[in-house]
Amino acid sequence: MKLQNKSLPQKTVLKELELKLKKDFTFTSGKILGSMCSEPHPIARRVYVRYLEKNLGDSGLFPGVTELEKEIVQMLGTLLSNPAATGHIVTGGTEANTLALWAAKRLSKKKNGEVIIPVSAHCSFDKAADILGLKIVKVGLNSKFQVDVAAVKKRLNPNTIAIVGVAGTTGLGVVDPIKELSEIALENNLYLHVDAAFGGFVLPFLRELSYSVPDFDFTLPGVCSITIDPHKMGLAPIPAGGILFRNEEIKKAVAWKVPYLAGGETEQATLVGTRSGASVIAVWALLRHLGVEGYRRIINRCMRLTWKLVDEIKGIEGLEIVTEPVMNVVGLKSKVFDIRKVAHELRIKGWAISLFPGHIRVVVMPHIRWGHIEHFIKDLKEIAKKLGVRKEGEVLAVSSI
Ligand SMILES: Cc1ncc(COP(=O)(O)O)c(C=O)c1O
Repeated sequence: MKLQNKSLPQKTVLKELELKLKKDFTFTSGKILGSMCSEPHPIARRVYVRYLEKNLGDSGLFPGVTELEKEIVQMLGTLLSNPAATGHIVTGGTEANTLALWAAKRLSKKKNGEVIIPVSAHCSFDKAADILGLKIVKVGLNSKFQVDVAAVKKRLNPNTIAIVGVAGTTGLGVVDPIKELSEIALENNLYLHVDAAFGGFVLPFLRELSYSVPDFDFTLPGVCSITIDPHKMGLAPIPAGGILFRNEEIKKAVAWKVPYLAGGETEQATLVGTRSGASVIAVWALLRHLGVEGYRRIINRCMRLTWKLVDEIKGIEGLEIVTEPVMNVVGLKSKVFDIRKVAHELRIKGWAISLFPGHIRVVVMPHIRWGHIEHFIKDLKEIAKKLGVRKEGEVLAVSSI
């Protein structure tokens, strides 16, 4: 599209936009079953539009918002067993993970640094390593889809600078044995980053609901930083990721002085400069409004729907779950059909699910209602029936994980 010469009335532009955006999926339709984002909470929505002009890149101009960000970090730090944690609300899990690896690199001062990550880690680590000139060493998983700790130990070498563990993997919501990783990190003087981009807003509340939750946070002395994203299970508007560092010294490793700003000289420990203050204010409002009680209620609802979904899937011939869910993430596989065909048929029926190698991922986010699950199950049954009808002698492709 070429930028036209003439100005257009706002009404015309809004109408045009409405038409163009009609093709987008919406959370309210209940068809988005494969995203780790959800519809922002009404209070966050209201606050976000009210404070659009706030820029935390120039924190001297906005001391009020700067204070709110500190309070958020304190609240999230408390949730993750370290009220003295320091950090920022950033653009998302990708920026948070990149900042963690950057801190690890700057603290180690090693050339040719290597970072050990599980194969289940999010692709943002590959991206970050490429930018930072680090080498990623990927290790396999155990039978519970957690990182194989013995394999981590085997891959340690003098160039290793950091280890990554995931608390809520992207594909299956699994929690790695962070306690063991913490011990390895301490014994070998290595940086340990925990990616709880999704799980950070789930695991503390599951614990509140008396689920058995392994230690994954700053309780473990080897943990140097944690990613925790409000724009996933925190119900915040995008962009709102979170990076928490155990202490100020670690954060300092990625702090950069910016001398020229209108608000006076400042330090930025984020990848971006100008950044949304509205995002931060929205997260603050959400945390204050929902509190532990509110998030516990939301997670409880998501988990109840997750168990119902799992029960229903178990009743469909040819389909099975990959592993018992740890959180509201369900992996679906088949020994009978090619799971990619199932995903294809689901897409034809309008479902936005995620396809991983060997399985379909469903994330039961807060915008999902029981009616949506019922509809999804009905479609899944039809698809399983359709794919199950074999022509004589036909061998069906078998998928595996
Ligand atoms: C565990 C994990 N870490 C990091 C990310 C990246 O987050 P973002 O897309 O907000 O950059 C994701 C995204 O789903 C994730 O699941």
